[in-house]
Amino acid sequence: MKITVSVIKADVGSIGGHIKPSQKLKETVSNYINEHGVKNKDVIDYRISSTGDDIAILMTHEKGTLNEKIHKLAWDAFVAGTEVAKEQGLYGAGQDLLKDAFSGNVKGMGPAVAEMEIEERPNECFIQFAADKTDPGAYNLPFYLAFADPMYCAGLILSPKMGKGFKFVIMDVAHTEGDRVIELSAPQNLYDIASLLRDNQRFVIEHIYSNDTGEIAASISTTRLHNIAGKYTGKDDPVALVRVQGSFPATGEVLAPFSIGHYVAGFMRGSHTGPLMPVKANSPISYFDGPPVVSAQAFSMRNGKLTEPADAFDQPFWDWVRDQVSQKAQDIRRQGFSGCAMLPYSELEYGGIVEKMKKLDGKFKLRK
Ligand code: F6R
Ligand code: MG
Ligand code: MG
Repeated sequence: MKITVSVIKADVGSIGGHIKPSQKLKETVSNYINEHGVKNKDVIDYRISSTGDDIAILMTHEKGTLNEKIHKLAWDAFVAGTEVAKEQGLYGAGQDLLKDAFSGNVKGMGPAVAEMEIEERPNECFIQFAADKTDPGAYNLPFYLAFADPMYCAGLILSPKMGKGFKFVIMDVAHTEGDRVIELSAPQNLYDIASLLRDNQRFVIEHIYSNDTGEIAASISTTRLHNIAGKYTGKDDPVALVRVQGSFPATGEVLAPFSIGHYVAGFMRGSHTGPLMPVKANSPISYFDGPPVVSAQAFSMRNGKLTEPADAFDQPFWDWVRDQVSQKAQDIRRQGFSGCAMLPYSELEYGGIVEKMKKLDGKFKLRK
């Protein structure tokens, strides 16, 4: 059976600043999908969750990717949510809905979207990742390690189904006139892949495919709000879907690289460097509007019907990781604005400092 899994995520308002959406807002989004998507059978099943200030709508259906009906349903659910956010006086109501009217699909309109159309396995399982206070390049390192490095993914050497490696489709997100992409296979093009993926702000993994079966393994949202709006509108807070087990890495192999808590762009005002902390689903944001966080919910699925999520970072091992990552967050925060703790000009999400530099520039004098 061909099933499409879509996850569409947006920040349409949160409590007490950019901390977390209200319960009423989440319920409104959930009821909308149920009333207008499930009841008329456009959607087979769905789940709502939050990560920091963002709400993710996970849907299964048979309409394929970039489907207008499905995308409009999610958009309208976020519009309904925005009404509640306004009523409750939530902060940043409707923040990620950058356009006034829906047209075609939500790509380029603000919400983050990751989708894959799959031939459902009898024991289909996948992970939904949702990150807040960071950008899509945050997934570059963990997914490179999970799909191309036997130091993290033992299956690449132990499993006969994974020996041919994986194909990476990588997007140049600085190119805004259209999709500029390159396809490279690991292990053959490993160094080329690494050369691109080191630059998290420019090159981003969009899809990963099995070289053995050709099946899609992963899909990542590649939208950069900064590039769409041309100004600060919040960080992109990317989502991803990753299939696991069998001819794909095991769930634990995909999760393993998240124990690094690698430094990513985002954090306070989308303008700092901070470690990516793996958190439980529905966790809020806190310290210095961060740290950047990622949740992972694993699902099983049969005929498009989803189980309840297994919260993959809700396990004692990850408490220890969170302690380590907190230490990393403190280490870099202690140097405040200095050097790599704050992002370079091109990545700053607030114009204040750029205007300041223009004024100061005029005051410089050349000493004779
Ligand atoms: C970053 C983020 C927050 C805000 C900060 C200031 O993605 O959402 O760090 O940038 O709280 O928010 P404003 O400018 O809305 O007062
Ligand atoms: Mg926000
Ligand atoms: Mg957010």
